[in-house]
Amino acid sequence: MELPGRNSDYREKSYWDERYTTEESYDWFTGYSSFQHLLRRDILPQQHILTIGCGNSSMSTDMYENGFKHITNTDFSPVVIEKMAEKHKDLTEMSWQVMDMCDISFPAESFDIVLEKGTLDAVMVHERDPWNTSQETLDLIDSVLQQVERVLKPGGKFISITFAQPHFRRPLYARKKYGWDVNMSSVGEAFHFFYMVMEKGKQLSEKDILAEKEREKKRLLRENNSENPVTFMENDTEDFVLSIEL
Ligand SMILES: C[S@@+](CC[C@H](N)C(=O)[O-])C[C@H]1O[C@@H](n2cnc3c(N)ncnc32)[C@H](O)[C@@H]1O
Repeated sequence: MELPGRNSDYREKSYWDERYTTEESYDWFTGYSSFQHLLRRDILPQQHILTIGCGNSSMSTDMYENGFKHITNTDFSPVVIEKMAEKHKDLTEMSWQVMDMCDISFPAESFDIVLEKGTLDAVMVHERDPWNTSQETLDLIDSVLQQVERVLKPGGKFISITFAQPHFRRPLYARKKYGWDVNMSSVGEAFHFFYMVMEKGKQLSEKDILAEKEREKKRLLRENNSENPVTFMENDTEDFVLSIEL
């Protein structure tokens, strides 16, 4: 496996194209068998599924073999899409398409399920401080989520499988503007992965609504403070210390 020189390479199409030139198959965070109990709970076999950033994982082909046949697989790497389409050309109800998740071109309300495993992680791993994700990454995730919401049918589900701790990832998903709720399960023993389901048309929990309001308050405070930074007055001699009456 070709490891990147820097974590930020995981965002680059050129990195993935090069990697997929030689790599045949790799499943991030394990494959279908670890998540099948949840996927079976959340997806009906006849439903239409869009995967974003499918890579060369066996997830979709395993799902296909387990009865989930209507899968549209997308990735921004033409190298991997070409290889996967050729390798699985006998799985005729499944399709492969080059597409950037930042520019999802399917019509509105065309899928019951949008599924991603490790794709949003790939565009976030270069962040140095998960408590303070950069505005650029927040905007990118927001733009992807708006598109995911757009292509989901009413009642459709966005399923996101991630290694990100819920206290970092949940705030990105639990926003009123997307019009979905957020539920989470963890999978694994020593090391946990998180399986998050957002169902379009459901209300966020009271806790998520309050948490979003708190975050917004903090953001406004930060913005206000950076516009009006607290500074010492010029010629400040700090003689306020001397003025304190004891
Ligand atoms: C960490 S891998 C996960 C692959 C696969 N989903 C799995 O579970 O093994 C991330 C994948 O996302 C793809 N990717 C990264 N950025 C993307 C983007 N902007 N649009 C579409 N695919 C992207 C990469 O090409 C890569 O295949």
